[in-house]
This record gives sequence, structure tokens and C-alpha cells, in this order.
Amino acid sequence: MPEATHVASGKVREIYELDESHLLLVASDRISTFDVVLPTEIPDKGRVLTGLSSFWFARTGDIVPNHLVAIRADGRSTEARRLAMLPIECVVRGYLAGSGWKDYSATGEVCGHRLPAGLRESDQLPAPIFTPATKAQEGHDENIDRARAAELVGDEILAAAEQLSLALYEHAAAYAAERGILIADTKFELGLDADGVLTLGDEALTPDSSRFWPADEYEPGRGQPSFDKQYVRDYCESLGWDKAPPAPELPEAVVEGTRARYVEAFERLTGIRFADYLADPEVVLR
Ligand SMILES: Nc1ncnc2c1ncn2[C@@H]1O[C@H](COP(=O)(O)OP(=O)(O)OP(=O)(O)O)[C@@H](O)[C@H]1O
Ligand SMILES: [Mg+2]
Repeated sequence: MPEATHVASGKVREIYELDESHLLLVASDRISTFDVVLPTEIPDKGRVLTGLSSFWFARTGDIVPNHLVAIRADGRSTEARRLAMLPIECVVRGYLAGSGWKDYSATGEVCGHRLPAGLRESDQLPAPIFTPATKAQEGHDENIDRARAAELVGDEILAAAEQLSLALYEHAAAYAAERGILIADTKFELGLDADGVLTLGDEALTPDSSRFWPADEYEPGRGQPSFDKQYVRDYCESLGWDKAPPAPELPEAVVEGTRARYVEAFERLTGIRFADYLADPEVVLR
């Protein structure tokens, strides 16, 4: 791509600079589990992430402006306005899972939110909560309380980020629940645009940035199967892999099953056939 300069590689995306104020984010087919990138790719996974994010960007502009300028014909590349990203991840939790469940079990609180006693793993919370985390350069992100988040971004931006994140989650969770997918929690990355306006960047409301659970298998009191990654997790567990790199190669059946789940999440949420997206990615913007 002679018109673009490669500037960074994330776990999933390759980032190129198009000009001073625009980036090209290219979502690869890499998959990680237990925070380790696997050596095997899931074909079209990057297209699912790009298509879903773009679908939500096109439908949530009235809640918060976003960085999307265009999606390219390959279905995996996003032309985006470059933002000054906040140094926090804006996490919203509607259910008790992952580090939220761990923190609640130990302290009765999650990021300073005191919760009712007696909640079980995977229970729905009385109301969604905003639980910011730091962006770890390496290893796991760390949950932080309000005071620490305010030190990092300032009170005013924190309050705005909380309100926007909750509004986005509530909109998407209600929509997804009608389509058989529970969004247990999700992470947004917000930044300031050239005019200092708080803007949604990165990916949004995808299986990679969220915990998607199949609604028909939901049963609080235990961990829930993952809508998208369960085959990968089950396979890795069956090998007794210690979750330290390097991760194992995935067999063909696990790759195929996982690809099908990503595509199913795309189709259920967008109501658009994935084949139609491949033919013309802009279908998700209409
Ligand atoms: N509009 C934007 N302007 C500037 N940076 C952005 C924008 N949108 C996303 N980013 C950044 O681009 C990167 C996306 O890459 P990717 O999703 O692969 O990263 P990651 O592995 O999830 O996490 P990390 O940020 O730690 O690399 C993230 O660092 C994200 O903060
Ligand atoms: Mg990311």
C-alpha cells in the first residue's frame, strides 16, 4: 500500500497512517484466547469484526460521534479519523462475569460500585455499571476505581465517558437480546478528535470487545458458554494447555466451528447475510 505507512501492530489490527489526521485500521483473522494470540487464524474473523463495528457506528451516531470515515471493499479495512485515545478502557458490565465476578466475590464491589449481597456468577446486575480499566501495555488490563480514572482523564471527561458508554451499552444490549445474544459486558475505546470532541474509536460491540452469551443457554450460578470462542476454549482446555505462550495450533474442525459462530453473530445482529457483506461491505451502513 504505497499511500499508507505502517505505524503499529496490535494483537488483532495492523495500523497504517493515511495522512496526518486519518488512520487505516486493518483487522486481521488473528484470534486470542486467555489473552494469548493463537498460531492459527479464523478465516474472515477480521471481516466480521469490521462489519459489526461499522454496523453499530452507523446506528449510534446520535449517542456519540465515532471515528468511521469509510470501510474498504476488502471488508476488513476501516478508514478512520485519528483520535487522541483516552488512557482508559471504558468497560460496561450488565452481568457478573470475569474480573467483575472475581472482584465481587472477594470484596462485594466492582471498581467501587457496591453491589447487593448474594449475587451469583453470571447474574444480571440491578443496572449496568461503568467499570473503567487501565490499558496495560503488556498482560492483563487492570480494573481501577473512579478516583484513579479521574486522575488519568479528568473529572469532566470521565463523567462524559461514563454516560456515553452506558448509553451505548444499553442500546446495544436491548437490541442484541431480541436477537438471542446477551451482551454480558463490553469495552469501548474513546478519544478526543481534532476539535476536542469525545469520540468513539477502535472497534465497538464485537465478540472481541465484548462477552457475547447465547441467550437460550443462559443459566446464572455458573460460567456461561461463549457465543464465539467456546470451541477454542474447550479445545485448549482438553489439551491441558497451561495458558502460557506459545498457544496450540487449532484443528480444522475447531477453526470451521469458530468461523461459523462469528458469522452467526454477524448475521443475527445485523440481519444481513454475511455473503452480502462480502459482496458489498457498505450494506452494513445502510
Ligand atoms: N481512531 C483511532 N485513533 C487512534 N488510535 C486508534 C483509533 N482507533 C483505534 N485505535 C487504536 O488502535 C489499536 C487497535 O489495535 P488492536 O485492536 O489490534 O489493539 P489491541 O491488541 O486490542 O490492544 P493494544 O491497544 O494494546 O494494542 C488500539 O491500540 C486502539 O487504541
Ligand atoms: Mg483491540
